[in-house]
Amino acid sequence: MTNRSCLMIVLAAGEGTRMKSATPKVLHEVAGRPIVAHVVATAVAAGADRLALVVGPGRQDVAKAALAVAPHARVFEQTERLGTAHAVLSARAALAEAVDDVIVLYGDTPLVTPETLARVRTEMSAGSDVVVLGFEAANPTGYGRLLIQNGELAAIREERDASEAERRVTLCNSGIMGFAGKHVLALLDAIGNQNAKGEYYLTDAVEVARGRGLRATVVEGSEQEFLGVNDRAQLAACEATYQRRYRHAMLAAGVTLQAPETVFFAADTLIAADVVIEPNVVFGPGVTVETGARIRAFSHLEGARVAEGAIIGPYARLRPGADIGKAAHIGNFVEIKNATIEDGAKANHLSYIGDARVGSRSNIGAGTITCNYDGFGKYHTDIGAGAFIGSNSSLVAPLTIADGAYIGSGSVITDDVPADALAIGRGRQTIKAGWAATFRTRMKAMKK
Ligand code: UD1
Ligand code: MG
Repeated sequence: MTNRSCLMIVLAAGEGTRMKSATPKVLHEVAGRPIVAHVVATAVAAGADRLALVVGPGRQDVAKAALAVAPHARVFEQTERLGTAHAVLSARAALAEAVDDVIVLYGDTPLVTPETLARVRTEMSAGSDVVVLGFEAANPTGYGRLLIQNGELAAIREERDASEAERRVTLCNSGIMGFAGKHVLALLDAIGNQNAKGEYYLTDAVEVARGRGLRATVVEGSEQEFLGVNDRAQLAACEATYQRRYRHAMLAAGVTLQAPETVFFAADTLIAADVVIEPNVVFGPGVTVETGARIRAFSHLEGARVAEGAIIGPYARLRPGADIGKAAHIGNFVEIKNATIEDGAKANHLSYIGDARVGSRSNIGAGTITCNYDGFGKYHTDIGAGAFIGSNSSLVAPLTIADGAYIGSGSVITDDVPADALAIGRGRQTIKAGWAATFRTRMKAMKK
């Protein structure tokens, strides 16, 4: 990659009325991450030395989502929505600092890749003053058209301002543009608003640059990468494309997906080679799966770590803070939240383990529940190594069950259990010999 310094500016001032949402469109999520955070993360991955974000008035929430991925980004407010050039100029203080290249990105276009941005940077280092990332559109309606003359980019014409002939052009503006840092302010300040929308169009920078004898060129990418989110259908389309990409990346990295199209990842899902993922598995944010683990069908994981060789599911739910040790087994209808399940431990059926530690090789019987909440506070359950928790036990936290202890099935355990002890907490069984036969004889007589 080039060693030129680069400022990237992400425009995120759009509200997106077509989303029909109380949430600004750039905060809607793709793969569990706000759209604007995807764009900012891509800018960072593409080597932006400096980052500026332009948000609408008072949109601290948008700023926060971006800063979560790039804490060093500078946030600017565009107080009035007067067009894309005006939006970029809201970051004037950042533009005024000396930098080789300035690249403008749209905060509602989450699928652009760092590789594509790298191509824009390469083009700039080759001496272009204005670079436009373009694409051949299947349906160019609504996009700015790239007008080429004598093999060079002469202008970008917005749909509403275009002539019949210009509208037939299918080479379109993705919205991503690069500017030589030394010219950017002069170019943008020269842009007027005499057009169909009465807006300051960033795209007019091309004609301004040409008029000054500067070089404007096009880098072409694929249409799919530039899909913007303006409505819920486009949001769903972005999600689908993102998931398709992620699945391909996982397969290429050595992960087995038995039915790739049924597995959903979050933007930060990390899965090692030689993990097998069965059909219909959903990963929320914050999941790491180590090598040799198997995630069985219909499991849902978020905020969890699964160590080497562990088996999760089918039908398991790992919630934030679930830390599953090596070769541990978490079976069907088992929910784990904020709990460490140490190496080789097993909870195979129908359990809730929350705010707990389960020591290595311990066995949690079917139907075991940690009673961690009393309506006010959350309390910890500590189970040592090699313990055996009989089926259908309620473990009332705070509670310590020491190494090697045994809990009788169906117990309600409220007091700590010492190592290697047996604890039984249930009504004693009584036997009434012959009671059932006597009962039946009496009932039959009554019926007659
Ligand atoms: C823009 C381009 C068009 C391109 C298309 C790609 C201009 C003039 N036109 O058109 O050539 O083909 O994107 O999708 O740039 N924004 C602000 N403040 C503003 C106006 C816009 O922050 O005052 C932001 C929007 O939130 C959005 C982006 O800039 O993220 C683009 O604005 P939009 O109004 O969607 O431009 P288009 O008409 O789609
Ligand atoms: Mg748009």
